[in-house]
Amino acid sequence: MSGTQIKDRYAVIGNPVGHSKSPFIHGRFAAQTGEPVEYGALLAPVDAFVPHVRAFIEAGGRGLNVTVPFKLDAHAFADVLSPRAAAAGAVNTLRVDSNGVYGDNTDGFGLVRDIEVNLGVPLKGARILLLGAGGAARGVILPMLERGPHTLTIVNRTAAKAEALVDQFAQAAAEAACRLTGGNARAIEPGAYDVIVNATAGSLEASLPECDDGAFGSGTLAYDMMYGAHPTVFMEHAQKLGARGADGLGMLVEQAAESFYVWRGVRPEGAPVLAELRALLSAPSHA
Ligand code: ATR
Repeated sequence: MSGTQIKDRYAVIGNPVGHSKSPFIHGRFAAQTGEPVEYGALLAPVDAFVPHVRAFIEAGGRGLNVTVPFKLDAHAFADVLSPRAAAAGAVNTLRVDSNGVYGDNTDGFGLVRDIEVNLGVPLKGARILLLGAGGAARGVILPMLERGPHTLTIVNRTAAKAEALVDQFAQAAAEAACRLTGGNARAIEPGAYDVIVNATAGSLEASLPECDDGAFGSGTLAYDMMYGAHPTVFMEHAQKLGARGADGLGMLVEQAAESFYVWRGVRPEGAPVLAELRALLSAPSHA
C-alpha cells in the first residue's frame, strides 16, 4: 500500500545545492513520522529563483527550504511572512497553501533548540554574546530574545551594523526584559558569558572574529554556526580557553525539523538524525 501512496513534494533550492544535507535529513524525518513526503534538491541559477520556484509550485510542489544565496529572494517572494521571518529579513522555508505562499524562518528556532534541548544549556536568564551582525546573526536574535536571556551583547567588526540590530530589536528586548547592547569588540562586557554564538562568516576562511579572551570561561558554551568534519577554529580557540565548543550541525537538523513541522504539523525527533549525520561527517571518507 505504502509503495503506491502519492507523496507530497518538497525540496531544497540553492546554488550550489549538491552538497546539501537537507534531502538526507528530511528523508529520515519522513521515515520516522510516516508522513508521505518526497524531498529533493533544486539547483537554480542565481538570477532565476522566481521562475524555478513557480515551476516547482505549478508541478505540485508543496514547500521549499531555501539556502544560499536565495533567502532574501524568498523573503520578497512570499505572500505572507511569519513574524520571525519578518524580523530576520530572510526566509528559509516556503509553504504553499490555499492562501498563497507562506514564508517562514526556522534558523533561529533551530539554534535555540539545539542549544537548549540537545546541548542542555538554558537561555532563560543567560548572558549571551552574539558575534556577527550579518544575515545569519539577524535571523537568530528574535528567537533568542523570546527565551528571556538576561543579557544579549551583539558584537561586529563593523560596529554600525551591530548598533543597527540593537535599534531594530530594542522593543523585543524590552518585552523580554533583556538588556540588549552592541557595537565593536569594546562592547563586550567583563566576565565570562554563558553562551557565545559565532555568526560571522569567519569560519569559512578559518579566521577568528575579534573577541576578548575573558568572555570565555569554563561554564561557557561557545557555539559556531558553521560545521565540518573537524572542530572550527572558533571552537578550538574556545576550548583552549576552557570553554565547551559546539558546531552548527545540530542547528541544521533542528531548523529542518521545524520546517517539517511548518509543512506537516508533525514534529520529528532531531536527536537521532543528528547522531547519524555526525557519524557520517566524521567517517574517514570525509576527513
Ligand atoms: P551571513 O548571511 O552569513 O551572515 P553576511 O550577511 O555577509 O553573511 O555577514 C557576514 C558577517 O560575518 C558580518 O557580521 C561580517 O562582519 P562585517 O559586518 O564587519 O563585514 C562577519 N565577518 C566576515 N568575515 C569576518 C572576519 N574575518 N572577521 C570578523 N567578522 C567577519
